[in-house]
Amino acid sequence: MGDFENIIFEKDGGIAYITLNRPKALNAVNTRMRDELYEVLPSIKDDPDVKVAIVKGAGDRAFSAGADISEFGTVPSMAIGREIRWERDLWGMFLSVQKPLIAAIGGFALGAGIEMAMCCDIRIASDDSQFGLPEANLGMVPTAGGSQTMPRFVLKGWVSEIVFTADRIDAQKALHIGLINQVVPRDQLLNKANETARRIMSNDANALECAKAAIVRGLDMPLSQGLEMEQRLAAALTSERKTS
Ligand code: COA
Repeated sequence: MGDFENIIFEKDGGIAYITLNRPKALNAVNTRMRDELYEVLPSIKDDPDVKVAIVKGAGDRAFSAGADISEFGTVPSMAIGREIRWERDLWGMFLSVQKPLIAAIGGFALGAGIEMAMCCDIRIASDDSQFGLPEANLGMVPTAGGSQTMPRFVLKGWVSEIVFTADRIDAQKALHIGLINQVVPRDQLLNKANETARRIMSNDANALECAKAAIVRGLDMPLSQGLEMEQRLAAALTSERKTS
């Protein structure tokens, strides 16, 4: 794996940590960070030593303030921009990780920042966090999946309000609408994420993988198909256990 400039990748006792590491730019997601995330995620998927991953931001101000606005307009053409996104579908890559992903959000989680966190399974935030999708204010729409991922766990009315107004909401409101799972004091954020990761890791890794598949894939299916898939996954897990 290459040397990373804009992320830090660490492993400790079954937990992989990805730290978005541009604190001076509030961990804004630039092309380099995208590329590095794209490179690191397969190693989480494929490394049997990694059971759970935690994504967090460097510094004390932000998880991530979204796409790097200083790069806006620097792609040679919209077609090339689309091609790059298609070839390196970072958000699809996030969503394809079969292992539990936890976002530990301290501070701003805006645009691609909250969208990245929404590609994780569990979001734990510090009490001073702020969330938003400011794209409409910039004449854009969310393009890191936010318009699709957010309505999968936040009621549509709240999503519309967040997207249409481009206003930021605080951690208590984010908790109230189901955007995040837990709010903790800032100094307990990483401890809480670690504690949650360890609690998850105490369960069977294959069962977790099947459970994640059932939850994530099932959301895109009618209930009847989802129930069939659940049965198939349960049967596969049982037969795997018998043969191992
Ligand atoms: N892209 C690139 N740089 C960013 C950034 C982004 N999305 N968000 C913040 N930064 C940089 C600022 O340019 C500033 O850099 P500088 O110190 O070299 O001037 C630094 O991070 C600190 O940000 P600053 O705006 O000074 O902090 P603040 O506390 O006054 O405001 C925010 C914080 C998050 C409200 C504000 O930075 C902001 O609105 N950022 C843009 C958010 C956004 O629109 N993201 C989505 C794009 S689709």
